[in-house]
Amino acid sequence: AVTVSVPAGDADRAARSVTVRVPAKVNAQLAVGGARADGFHDLANVFLAVSLYDEVTAAPAEGLRITCEGPDAGKVPLDRTNLAARAAELLAARHGISPDVHLHIRKDIPVAGGMAGGSADGAGALLACDALWGLNSSRAELLDICATLGSDVPFSLVGGAALGVGRGERLTELPVGGAFHWVFAVADGGLSTPAVYGEFDRLHEGVDVPEPVASPALLDALRTGDATALAGALVNDLQPAAVSLRPSLAATLEAGTAAGALAALVSGSGPTTAFLVKDAESAETVAAALTASGTCRTARVAASPAPGATVLD
Ligand code: C5P
Repeated sequence: AVTVSVPAGDADRAARSVTVRVPAKVNAQLAVGGARADGFHDLANVFLAVSLYDEVTAAPAEGLRITCEGPDAGKVPLDRTNLAARAAELLAARHGISPDVHLHIRKDIPVAGGMAGGSADGAGALLACDALWGLNSSRAELLDICATLGSDVPFSLVGGAALGVGRGERLTELPVGGAFHWVFAVADGGLSTPAVYGEFDRLHEGVDVPEPVASPALLDALRTGDATALAGALVNDLQPAAVSLRPSLAATLEAGTAAGALAALVSGSGPTTAFLVKDAESAETVAAALTASGTCRTARVAASPAPGATVLD
């Protein structure tokens, strides 16, 4: 008898692919301590997942390949520095297999914008590869790999709302009592996270930076779903550093406030700016005003909390 093996065709490959949807984040509180010996900063980081999503599809392939689509796809590195590639490599190495996978990223989260888009792709690729390769890793194993990939990656997996301490990777999930509405003003170009932390250090030279602690008022506002109270408690210790490196952000923050936002702040290390608004209707008004102001490239509307990395059917 002769056995003929037929190579898997495109249709077969597509049928065996796994797609994972992963949210962006905003930091409701980013309290930053002094620089540690390892160069990182201790944080009290209150993450909120918002309804802007990347999708990562893992499909069988020979070797590791990454492709990306979306308006800003050209700004996404497609080499081994991409956190999606590193996720596949780390997971494969742990299981002694080779990282044979084609990762395709549908990018909707602003690139290098302080919304954890790269982290989202890392968490998404990890979950997608785990399912594609049938590894059934435990949540704890996945979170461990996420923490190796980057400080924000564990939260991309978990979603919802959480307090991150240490580098921001040690998470405690937080209760959220209602929906919050946001507008995000996307700036031209990105800001490098290490550069913003470096500027934070420069601005605090000779200053005794206090231990970062989560604000009880902010945690309360989240738990009760009170947008006005949350607006009064939002704080980002990286904001002066981001504005110092990109002074034009001050005009964007001002434009959103003038348009009726409850609060305005830089998202993470920036340069995306975040505006908390009272409802979905106000979000549309503020987004239109921000776009018309000419102080940002585009404005996006989103709500929180949003679910973490999820395998789509
Ligand atoms: O953990 P991640 O790779 O995302 O961090 C990127 C950079 O941001 C680090 O190299 C460091 O400069 C800075 N960072 C920090 N303290 C943190 C998280 C990040 O200084 N808690």
